[in-house]
Amino acid sequence: AAVLRVGVLGAGVVGSQVIRLLLEQADDLAARVGARVELAAVAVRRPHRHAEVPAGLLTDDAAAVVADPSIDVIVEVMGGIDPTRELLLTALRRGASVVTANKALLAEDGPTLYAAADAAGADLYFEAAVAGAIPLIRPLRESLAGDRISQVLGIVNGTTNFILSAMTATGDSYELALKEAGRLGYAEADPTADVDGFDAAAKAAILASVAFHTRVGAADVHREGIGAVSAADVAAATEIGCVIKLLAICERNGGAAPGGAADGGAAAGDDVVADETESVSARVHPVMLPNTHPLARVDGAFNAVYVQAESAGQLMFYGPGAGGAPTASAVLGDLVAVARNRVAGGRGPRESAYADLPLRPFGEV
Ligand code: HSE
Repeated sequence: AAVLRVGVLGAGVVGSQVIRLLLEQADDLAARVGARVELAAVAVRRPHRHAEVPAGLLTDDAAAVVADPSIDVIVEVMGGIDPTRELLLTALRRGASVVTANKALLAEDGPTLYAAADAAGADLYFEAAVAGAIPLIRPLRESLAGDRISQVLGIVNGTTNFILSAMTATGDSYELALKEAGRLGYAEADPTADVDGFDAAAKAAILASVAFHTRVGAADVHREGIGAVSAADVAAATEIGCVIKLLAICERNGGAAPGGAADGGAAAGDDVVADETESVSARVHPVMLPNTHPLARVDGAFNAVYVQAESAGQLMFYGPGAGGAPTASAVLGDLVAVARNRVAGGRGPRESAYADLPLRPFGEV
């Protein structure tokens, strides 16, 4: 197609930046994609409040946008689980590609969306759902798809990392640091999703799913927030050369690859089968991290994810994990990728082709 038409759902902190970039960079995007990427519609709750969007494109009817057969790609930055799930399923089922930043929905019901995308031959991309601008989903899903990832450790929540960093730097109490995070605009008015670990748990579920090619949902993630971390805990950690971080910890246990050192190697020509003892686990809780660990130096509202893979070794991904423009950068990157797939007449990775690895409950060895 010479023109790819894009419908955007939501024009908040991220959506307004996506729209700005789409309009400002239209020529560059066209050159990179090989077709014009045209903003066709923007669905928002209150159209009169969005002076930044060309008025003719605004609508309050998201259902009409996702059902519009002239729209090739839906960009979802409205958030929430319902009615967003039905909207995205409607788009995918008619073969439209979807780019979403919706970590809660993917962690709640990713497999339903993946299956709908695969059944229709549509793309579902979600780089912006985890760690904002940091390229992470595509590296795990694609660049490392030929490797075997054993561990993903992440500082994936900027609000809690800001609070813990501030407590470490100043000796302040949790309450004082939380107040400061709110004053500076890091913590939201209701910081529950961040400080109680729900946000990080959703991201852990997504990371474990793509890293291990299996299904892990938010409910499978053991979760503990930072509300009980005291100034005394922080001081004790410093005393022994550690720092307290809220980590998302995703691990694959057992099931060494055939031919790998761990099982002494398999005979040539053996079928490659997953070891039956293989399992995965995902959890979020505060951790005493030695100062020498690469994640120990990640301070403030930044995110970082450490990946251990059999052949690649240790990798670190680091950068801004939130914010309108950084998150919009990840959305635009996905938009270019799905647009290129369309121009080429192909599609990206199929996520429903996962294994169903057993989940190991936290605390069980
Ligand atoms: N509230 C999240 C954070 C925003 O603090 O990291 C990004 O998902």
